[in-house]
Amino acid sequence: ADIYFLFSGLIGRSWAMVFAAGGFKVKLYDIAQQQLTSALENIRKQMKELEESGFLKGALSAEQQLALISICTDLKAAVEGATFIQECTPENLELKKKIFGQLDLIVGDNVILSSSTSCLLPSKLFTGLKHVRQCIVSHPVNPPYFVPLVEIVPHPETDPSTTERTYALMKKIGQSPVKLNREIEGFVLNRLQYAVISEAWRLVGEEVISPTDLDLVMSDGLGMRYAFIGPLETMHLNAEGISNYCERYREGMRLVLNTFGPVPEFSGEIEQKINQAMSERIPVVPKVLDARRKWRDECLTGLAKLKKQMQSE
Ligand code: NAI
Repeated sequence: ADIYFLFSGLIGRSWAMVFAAGGFKVKLYDIAQQQLTSALENIRKQMKELEESGFLKGALSAEQQLALISICTDLKAAVEGATFIQECTPENLELKKKIFGQLDLIVGDNVILSSSTSCLLPSKLFTGLKHVRQCIVSHPVNPPYFVPLVEIVPHPETDPSTTERTYALMKKIGQSPVKLNREIEGFVLNRLQYAVISEAWRLVGEEVISPTDLDLVMSDGLGMRYAFIGPLETMHLNAEGISNYCERYREGMRLVLNTFGPVPEFSGEIEQKINQAMSERIPVVPKVLDARRKWRDECLTGLAKLKKQMQSE
């Protein structure tokens, strides 16, 4: 079987579980043995819990999946035999450039070098590398185990076969890849997300609505649809097709959009107000935050199950 290798932080662990569920051998690399040992423990615990609750992905048992994951603190040894390398170091351009520079010196011509970065552009990360044709960004959504989307973003010099192979691999492990034809700040997911966040911020800032009610507009309103269909299909279905939608709502949409305010500062009074409202409901204490994240992941697991069921019907 092919061998994949990663770094073992929050995203690295999640990727490792996704690849192991897909039946692939995974090697985790990190700078500290301690980090790797705790990553393995954490993965074991998560897999066992998932297995007990019936939510473990893949055809293999937790033990079988765990047997696919090994650890390594020597970069050269870790890369040995790898066909796909998913980098998951902290979001720091200099650090990532250093890692890719090191990898560039030791990898062959066939391995794909893929980065998990959420916002560093491929042209910043990979320009000048000898193996730039084999480099690509595969941006996951947290937590990748429960949210399948992966944004695949090529460098201008990335070989099309690198993009295709990455796309096929993501499909194979059960993720939901999308291809960007070219790089752009924020890729696509964060551009959409920031559009929503900035209008949310302005509406609360202008005291049109409370922070709690603002969140409900998404979770009990728009979000209900968005878990199944995107904004474009929403338009298509909310009228007799896109053209009819534009005919009916073009003017209205433009009228509303022209009233949007400037990019928020995300600081000061509004920040305090939103922070206070959120913290009242969900105090910023590790125990509370972890419990809420756990609940979120359970919701996402249930939703994933429902989506699967709805697709097969
Ligand atoms: P993290 O801080 O949890 O993990 C970083 C890992 O890198 C740690 O295991 C650390 O020991 C290791 N590390 C640090 N310096 C290193 C070095 N010099 N060499 C090798 N390993 C080193 O970070 P996280 O959240 O897992 O993020 C990793 C990447 O994934 C970032 O690029 C981030 O933008 C991206 N990402 C994160 C998401 C999130 O929600 N956390 C979502 C999507 C992408």
